[in-house]
Formats: sequence, structure tokens, C-alpha cells
Amino acid sequence: MRKRRVGILTGGGDCAGLNAVIRGITKSAIYEHGMEVVGFHDGFLGLIERRFTILTFDMVSGILTQGGTILGSDNKANPFEHVVYEGEEKRKFDISNQCVQLYNDMGLEALICAGGDGTMTIAGRLMEKGVRIVGLPKTIDKDLAETDITFGFDTARCIATEAIDRVHTTAQSHHRVMLIEVMGRNAGWLALEAGIAGGADIILIPEIPYDMEEIIHTARRRGQFGRRFSIVAVAEGARPIGGAQAVQKVVEDSPDPIRLGGISHVIAAQVEEHTGIECRVAVLGHVQRGGTPTPLDRVLATQFAVKAMELVVAGQFNHMVALRGGEMVAVPVEKVMGRQQLVPHDSPLIKTALSVGTSMGIA
Ligand code: F6P
Repeated sequence: MRKRRVGILTGGGDCAGLNAVIRGITKSAIYEHGMEVVGFHDGFLGLIERRFTILTFDMVSGILTQGGTILGSDNKANPFEHVVYEGEEKRKFDISNQCVQLYNDMGLEALICAGGDGTMTIAGRLMEKGVRIVGLPKTIDKDLAETDITFGFDTARCIATEAIDRVHTTAQSHHRVMLIEVMGRNAGWLALEAGIAGGADIILIPEIPYDMEEIIHTARRRGQFGRRFSIVAVAEGARPIGGAQAVQKVVEDSPDPIRLGGISHVIAAQVEEHTGIECRVAVLGHVQRGGTPTPLDRVLATQFAVKAMELVVAGQFNHMVALRGGEMVAVPVEKVMGRQQLVPHDSPLIKTALSVGTSMGIA
């Protein structure tokens, strides 16, 4: 008799903790539930192209501390809009039925999808076609709805905080304004939390369009109080009041084609011009997504994985595992689909930043 089987894929941008999740799923499936795990390569692309591996103990042994995902990921693949090039011509096909067929043919009890809002949205559509889904909340942006935290966020927050700590010395020694640009297209959690942790003087997030006058005023005012340097934590999605975000490139075929980057250069040029204070910029980019996960992310990813397997065994499908008020819970995938958790204007974290004199870029 064939063993009971579950599938897993990792979709969207990679982050620290994905391997911890793959290991957690595989080990608890094998040890605790006597099940077999099928790992699809490169997210939904593996499902589309029928590329998968049966994950063994040996494959997942030792990967807890490794960044990235041994399965590979893809942030463009979508079974409902599969892109095929016919010569120069690009055509899109809905091949979701073939994916559902493969899932059925393989006798999978469920498909565990680790990903962000894009992955959950595709997973939700497959769910409507009868695929039994269990979601795992992954993203350095911490912008998934219905969960207090996502795995990958803490590692990115640590890296961003360390970067702020490190530029502090140059800012102080050279009396400069140093800008650290972190990821976060629409949600400013990373800039906000790393900014607070690193003692940034100004924090700019997408949810609060900034006023250039206020940034200039803050840098000048610090000088008047003998602080001849400033640290600015900037989310890549920050934008001026009435202005636009800084688009770095457009990735054709991606469900979310805009790639941001460089707003801190725009701000730096303006601060320098109006204050005469020298400015420097560090754009962290994918450094934040790489490397070994923090202990918090390892624990979180392992807990999420074990909980996901519990849901599979209990037959509680079409839910995403979430952390709410310190507890592992299951939330319906449709509550997560197409939604983003942004920093609310009345967030206690914003209040905290303001209370210690940090500017949020508006008066
Ligand atoms: O959603 C995760 C994320 O890292 C965003 O913070 C960032 O804007 C985007 O992905 C970058 O995507 P890519 O890896 O395609 O450059």
C-alpha cells in the first residue's frame, strides 16, 4: 500500500526560514505521521512543469540553519496565467486543470504552500478547484493579513538593524546624514521596527507619505542640539506627499511587476542641497533576504511546519497557519487572499517612535 502523501512548495521571494519549514514538514511527516512528502521545485512552476522530488530525511538533515529554499522558488509562475513564448509572441494559458490533475494523480492529501500574499492568492484559486491547501506565512515584509508575524521577517529585521548600527559610526565620525533603504513595497514594518531598534532619527514608511521640509528641518534641528549627524531608515516604498514611489525596474510576466529602489538617493540629494550636510546612502536590497535565519525564525518556522502537518492530519484544509497573540492558529485562506497588512496610522509602534523623538517624516 502506498504511503499517505503531502505536497509542499515554496512560492514568491525567498527568505530565511524556508528551509527550516521544509525540514519541519518533512521530519514531522516522516516521524510523527508516517507520511511521505513531495517537494515541488520552484514554487508553482514545479506544479506546472511536473518537477518534484520525494523529500527524504537525508535531504532535509542539516538545512535548518541554511538560508533560501532547497526546493527553489519563483515569483512569476501562475497556473492560471502560464506564460508561453511562441516566437516573439507571449501568450498566457490557464493550465490550472492540469495542475489539479497532477495533484490528484499523485494522491496528495494536501498541498502545503509557503508564501506571501501572491502565493496565498494562487493557492486560494486552486482551493476553489478542489485542491486541499494548507498555507504557511512567509515574507520579510510581514504584510500578510491575519497573522502577527511571518517567518523571514525577524532575520531581515536583524540584518537591517545591524546595518543601521554599523552606519552610525560613519555618520557620527563624518557628521553626515546616512540613509539606509530597506525592502517594503507597501508595508513599512521592516523600516519601522529596524528603525526603532537601530535608534533612527527619521523613519520613512510607505503608509505615511513624507514631507521633505520636515526631513530637512529634523536634520538641521539635530545639528542645533549638537547632534551633527542623522540616521534615516527608509522603506523602498516611501514616497513624498503627492509624489510617486521610485521604480527601479518593471519585471514583465510578474503578477506584481514593479520593483522599487532608490528613493533614498532622491531624499539624500535634497537634504544635501538644502542643508549642506553631506549625505550617504546604503540600499540593503536582497542582503535582507539571505543568510542563516535567526533563532526566532527557526523556532517560528518549525512551529508553523509542525502545526501545518497537524492540520493536514486533522483534515483541516484550506487554512493558513498563523501566530495570533502568541498562539498557533489556523485562519481560512480566503481571509488572507488579496489582502495586505499595512502599518496602521495609530500603530503603537509609530507612537513609540514618536515618543522617543523619532520623526516619521511629517510634522
Ligand atoms: O515581497 C518580498 C520582497 O522582498 C519585497 O520586499 C521586495 O520589494 C521584492 O520582494 C523584491 O522582489 P525581487 O526578489 O523580485 O527583486
